[in-house]
Amino acid sequence: MSDVEATLTPEQAAADYETLYTVMAKRMSARRLKPDPVPDEIIGKVLEAGRWAMSGANAQPWEFIVVKAPARKQALADAYRDSNMEFCFWMEQMRDYDLRHPNFQVAGSTPQEQWEHMIEGSAVGWAKAPALIVVLGDGRRQWATVAGAHTFGRHASHLTDGLANCCTHMHLAIAALGLGSQWVTIHIQEPFKRILKVPDLLDVFLIISIGYPDMLRKPGTRRELSEFVHTEEYDMSKYMQNAEVADYIRRLRGKTRFRYEEIEPARS
Ligand SMILES: Cc1cc2nc3c(=O)[nH]c(=O)nc-3n(C[C@H](O)[C@H](O)[C@H](O)COP(=O)(O)O)c2cc1C
Repeated sequence: MSDVEATLTPEQAAADYETLYTVMAKRMSARRLKPDPVPDEIIGKVLEAGRWAMSGANAQPWEFIVVKAPARKQALADAYRDSNMEFCFWMEQMRDYDLRHPNFQVAGSTPQEQWEHMIEGSAVGWAKAPALIVVLGDGRRQWATVAGAHTFGRHASHLTDGLANCCTHMHLAIAALGLGSQWVTIHIQEPFKRILKVPDLLDVFLIISIGYPDMLRKPGTRRELSEFVHTEEYDMSKYMQNAEVADYIRRLRGKTRFRYEEIEPARS
């Protein structure tokens, strides 16, 4: 690759950046996908993109399971609703309504009513995607990296950093191919391991849904560079006090809630 880089003209490099930037900026979480099948060739390209991700010491701690069978997707959706969603729902009850994750800001005068309202909806929309890529992590591959990486809390993060990089590559490839995807975090992995027959030593890190988007593209929300880029040293005028961070999240919710309402419009 270095030969290729060396021969790039400034114009070619600018064009490469423009293409990459366009893909990065146009990618968005597509939480409603059409059921139309995605050709295997496309899925192959996405997997290939994941393969080239950076990882600590090039340990490549990932494995992928491609799931298309409707019964298995339904089993994953049921597990998600009964374990992950329920767990997250009750955790979100611990904080002010406005600060809750938008997906958990649901109508109802009691927590039970809110939960019932939640599961009535189609919150597990990703399971209707024609294909899912389940990303597994193999912690043993971290043995490849320096032993120092297993100290000071880094023991888990080298694994998850590598897996996250791999998933980002795949999400970008999906966007580049004109499709949509959702990043479906797995908080409680055991039910998924049982459904997918994953060996004990491996983790279920993420589910990526792939399909043709069934929603309109809307502008993304990102902080301005001027808010978080510092020159030479940390500029304390940009530092947020705790109360300001809480206020920031409240304002952020106001800007991003519609993205979740798009999947389940009758929320509140
Ligand atoms: C670590 C991480 C966890 C995420 N978890 C979820 C998730 O569980 N469900 C979901 O729909 N989106 C999830 N997302 C997607 C983010 O909500 C999304 O990327 C963010 O709101 C920006 O919106 P955009 O992807 O449309 O640009 C996650 C993204 C990351 C990187």
